Amino acid sequence: MNKTKIILDTDPGNDDLLAIIMALKSELLDLRGLTIVGGNASIEHTTGNALSLLTYMDRIEVPVYVGDASALNEASTSPEEFEEFKSHRIEIHGETGLHVSLPNPSIGPRNIHAVEFIIEEAERHKGELILVPVGPLTNIALALKKQPRLVDWVKSINLMGGAVNVPGNVTKYAEFNIYCDPEAANAVLSSGIDIKMCGLDITRVTSVKKEETDWLAGNSAGEKIIRRLLNTVFETTGRNSFSLHDPITVLSVLYPELIDWKEYDVSVICEGSQFGKTVGTLNPNGCVSVGIGIDQVLAKAKIAEILSE
Ligand code: RIB
Ligand code: CA
Repeated sequence: MNKTKIILDTDPGNDDLLAIIMALKSELLDLRGLTIVGGNASIEHTTGNALSLLTYMDRIEVPVYVGDASALNEASTSPEEFEEFKSHRIEIHGETGLHVSLPNPSIGPRNIHAVEFIIEEAERHKGELILVPVGPLTNIALALKKQPRLVDWVKSINLMGGAVNVPGNVTKYAEFNIYCDPEAANAVLSSGIDIKMCGLDITRVTSVKKEETDWLAGNSAGEKIIRRLLNTVFETTGRNSFSLHDPITVLSVLYPELIDWKEYDVSVICEGSQFGKTVGTLNPNGCVSVGIGIDQVLAKAKIAEILSE
């Protein structure tokens, strides 16, 4: 079977954990590696979380490449605003970026930078590689800047980020991944590469509810750790639902037909009160396919099916 080659660029991150397990388990995907970015936690924590998860899943053959800390828009906001941002992400993802404990990693990251790996893999597999960023777009933008020929080499980018026709989740304008590095997001969204944008328009509404305790019923290692994570989130954060932001982005590679796409031109506001807002202009020839609707029931069932493989 001809598997789809992907690189998952991730800031694990609770929902990133589910997306990584999907990518590890799916028979249809050839996960070339994980590239790590800061975002839900510091780059040190997100890297450690990825390595610990691979150790737990007994998949230490999957290479991990450390990338950039992401701007975390530290340069663009006041110290007070940045402290508020940090407390927002700690509230959502916990101090270390995960609401579940994992074993200490038995492996380390590879010794080349994530940006180098992205460029090398795209050149090695011209026209075949799909980039799946589910955190701030810093690594992807840096790779594009370093090697503009990625526009020809990369098959497509399926990204989690943005909010075109719905409010943001960090501010009323900005979604988290874009908010962390709007300049990077602008560079990626205007690159001309075929992009599928899985924004809050489809990811916020597709969530696991506290009472859906049977969503994942199996006893695989992946299902057990996810149930532990969901229980902790519901019991300790007061939240009654867990949005499947990053899992939906991996699903968009495998089953794009579960999502209604509309072509847009998308730009990002990088200053002022609407900092981090993704502005979409309908354009049938636009390079960005924005997910504007989703079959939530089928998408959740499919994600559970992949996680139980
Ligand atoms: O806004 C949701 C996104 O921000 C997800 O990727 C989540 O992991 C956080 O990074
Ligand atoms: Ca993420």
